[in-house]
Amino acid sequence: GKTLVVTGVASGIGAATAALLQRGGATVIGVDRNVPADFAGTFIQGDLSTPAGVAAVAERVPEGLAGLLNIAGVPGTAPWQTVLSVNVFGVRDLTRLLLPKIADGGAIVNLASNVASGWAARQLEVARFVQAADAREAIAAVADDPEVTGNSYRFSKECVRWLTQVQASENLGRVRVNSVSPGPVQTPILEDFKKDHGREKVEGAVALLGRAGQPQDIAAAIAFLLSPEAVWLNGTDLCVDGGLLAHRAVTAM
Ligand code: NAI
Repeated sequence: GKTLVVTGVASGIGAATAALLQRGGATVIGVDRNVPADFAGTFIQGDLSTPAGVAAVAERVPEGLAGLLNIAGVPGTAPWQTVLSVNVFGVRDLTRLLLPKIADGGAIVNLASNVASGWAARQLEVARFVQAADAREAIAAVADDPEVTGNSYRFSKECVRWLTQVQASENLGRVRVNSVSPGPVQTPILEDFKKDHGREKVEGAVALLGRAGQPQDIAAAIAFLLSPEAVWLNGTDLCVDGGLLAHRAVTAM
């Protein structure tokens, strides 16, 4: 069967995705800083917030992967430096190190967010940040920019949207790379989102939709992007938010 690396496997969307893929016959190598309570595959404990942590994880991953799911992430309630380290450079650097171990025809899915839908307005800044040679220097360089430090989660996910396109463009015909952008999903991170984005805003969205997204809703979209049926989807983002963004766009007119 296929072997897939899933980061963030100890909780929420990562755990649900690993379970779905395993039910479909895949071998899952799970990565997280926390030990999962209930995961049957090979587990690599590691911290994706530093280049050394990322390298230590990558070293333990075998060749011949069918794909990589960059699901681990931290909310904007964490220090902004951590948000940028994990959500942007953790994804970028782990992918860079694992790409040579991904077989031809493989696929990568990155977790973005529907809060990143305005990324194009900051395309140049986002592109520069993502391509920085040294993550620490890049993070230090935005310390004086309140648009970034005050909205680190949004900025990090805008970077993921751009990074996804960069990775797709660099691997055309070999490995497909797409992102998934959920709206509010019922996982432990949702409480942090309420603190970061405003309780009324998040709870209002959930009330409007009738429920929060469930981790399985997102796992299903990820599994589709990995499947042969998605062979012509590349460098794109799949928004999986129950229609929230569409509704906001229409009602804002
Ligand atoms: P979660 O908090 O349930 O799971 C995140 C996992 O990432 C945790 O197991 C955590 O230990 C791991 N992680 C965090 N920092 C790490 C590090 N430095 N090294 C290794 N592992 C680390 O959150 P959830 O909801 O499952 O989120 C998964 C992804 O989906 C994240 O990237 C998040 O930003 C994104 N997302 C979630 C939404 C939601 O409403 N739950 C909405 C939009 C995007």
